[in-house]
Amino acid sequence: MRILAIETSCDDTGIAILEVTGTKNPSFKVLSNIIASQVELGEKYGGVYPIMAKRAHEENLPLTLETALSQAKISLKNIDLIAVTNGPGLEPCLWVGVNFAKNLSSSWNIPIVPVNHIESHILVNWLPTHENPKSENRNPKIEFPAIALVVSGGHTQIILVKKIGQYKILGETRDDAAGECFDKCAKILGLGYPGGPIISQLATKLVGCPTPHQLPRPMINTKDYDFSFSGLKTAVLYAWPTFAKSFGEAMQKNAQATMAAEIQQAIIDVLIKKTIKAIKDYKAKSLILGGGVSANQELRKQFKNKLEEELPHVELIVPKPALSTDNGLMVAVAGYFNKKNTVSWKKIQANGNLRISK
Ligand code: KG4
Ligand code: ZN
Repeated sequence: MRILAIETSCDDTGIAILEVTGTKNPSFKVLSNIIASQVELGEKYGGVYPIMAKRAHEENLPLTLETALSQAKISLKNIDLIAVTNGPGLEPCLWVGVNFAKNLSSSWNIPIVPVNHIESHILVNWLPTHENPKSENRNPKIEFPAIALVVSGGHTQIILVKKIGQYKILGETRDDAAGECFDKCAKILGLGYPGGPIISQLATKLVGCPTPHQLPRPMINTKDYDFSFSGLKTAVLYAWPTFAKSFGEAMQKNAQATMAAEIQQAIIDVLIKKTIKAIKDYKAKSLILGGGVSANQELRKQFKNKLEEELPHVELIVPKPALSTDNGLMVAVAGYFNKKNTVSWKKIQANGNLRISK
């Protein structure tokens, strides 16, 4: 079957076409995966503004579709299923994708399946291209129960994955998401948008060096699996002016890099502590990472080391960095696993607050 997938939950317009053959051990062939990014808008305004992002999705979708089809060398009449993200995310943006999918579904008489954005960040790991060297070129063997850590600009959730389709949110952020914290801290430091990749790039030179300023690790010792990142951002806000001054005019780049490394480490420490606790408590056999922040190389490295030290039997499953951030392909994979849940184009709705489990 051929799946056309549409992603517009935040500021990336993604369309992918995925061909799946076989049923028991499906084989995935990526025909196209096109992303029209709104990074320039984000850079200009220092963040995502739903109304502007919505307009950009409306502008981008038709051309993105045309590019995806021409790269896949097929036409809409060759599509068997449309998958579209219907939540969670920015609701005005979600509606653009959902309405686009509705139009295609009704005009071409193609069934449509709604996809949960968080589930698609998890299920993208079922693509054979993921970065686990042991499973290269074949479908990864992901053993259950698994713990998934989904860390993005909008969400930070630890999820128990009993099997595909059976999820329980064990904990989540009570305020800002981890990616949001990276983005807001980058803004305080006078860096660009999105903050995560910039902070991680700056921090590479200084990881492991002692930092002259220790930031808090909020909620690191609480017994639950919840997070709180807004206090970390506030701590950076108060510490930064004095910290920057102490480096002097000529050393501002060093001040930024040093603070960037400390911000990144504070976030990593909390994410790792809570996730490892969940793996132990639920005797999980795999750890699945997903969401934009999971592109962070230092986070990946430290998770790998920690598992090798403490839980060597637990397999670390991570997507290719380009598939950590929002894209259409992850929606296509999730659409495939949900192919039985098609709905009428008249009924499909976007829901900004959709939950993966009750
Ligand atoms: O999953 P995603 O593309 O969109 C949402 O669903 O929110 O995640 C975007 C977030 C942004 O906050 C961005 O700063 C963060 O992912 N991010 C990173 C890295 N790459 C993207 N954070 C840390 N390190 C990175 N390398
Ligand atoms: Zn996302």
